[in-house]
Amino acid sequence: MRKPLIAGNWKMHNTLVEARALVAGVVERLDESADVDVLMCPPVQLLFPMAKAVVGSKIMLGAQNVHEEQSGAFTGEVSVAMLKDTGCSHILVGHSERRHIFGEMGDRIAKKVRAVVQGGLTAIYCIGETLEDREAGRTMAVIDQQIDEVLTGDIPADQLIVAYEPVWAIGTGKTASPEQAQEVHAHIRSRLVDVYDAGKAEKLRILYGGSVKPGNAASILAQPDIDGALVGGACLVAEDFAAIISAVLTAA
Ligand code: PGA
Repeated sequence: MRKPLIAGNWKMHNTLVEARALVAGVVERLDESADVDVLMCPPVQLLFPMAKAVVGSKIMLGAQNVHEEQSGAFTGEVSVAMLKDTGCSHILVGHSERRHIFGEMGDRIAKKVRAVVQGGLTAIYCIGETLEDREAGRTMAVIDQQIDEVLTGDIPADQLIVAYEPVWAIGTGKTASPEQAQEVHAHIRSRLVDVYDAGKAEKLRILYGGSVKPGNAASILAQPDIDGALVGGACLVAEDFAAIISAVLTAA
């Protein structure tokens, strides 16, 4: 019922030559008829050339960040309309690296999510607890707070995807167990019922992110409330990203 989505967050990796090779490697291994959506989020300067590179394939493009204003004196920033120009359809908002390295807080993230949907694109809203939160038994409280400060029923549900990424699992090689991840995903979906209604919450995709690799993807993606993955490190290797895309199909 929910079509799985495998999204790759390239972060600050790949020059033009490397990016072309990576996309070609993924395209080569991709089953175009498979019932899975595929998204790549390159650094912003690669969006235009990658839009060309993915022509003829099912790969969609997303951006890793955006500014909340439509235009203005914001040196170094890009707006939703500018990203839309590149052909991108999705934008990551609230990634833990934006929160923890660049100090993005809830109100700013809320404005960004609104700017994305008002601009007609889909926001992938990233949430997740730190190790300290988890060890203190605060996981669900943190998730609730991150949902409450950003998500309201006026955000069109069909332009929203939630990504649960425990901060302690990002880039660390540690993954939440399938059961740990499912527990949080089920909780997120129950909160989405409060924001929207049961019908809309049932249709919303919730991705898992945090050290997803070919070896652990199938067991994570087999969980009932896990509708795909947001992949960092493993999306930089065409074979690995393609293997994760295949894993979601076997897990379905
Ligand atoms: P990782 O990154 O797969 O390298 O842990 C995930 C992410 O940051 O989205």
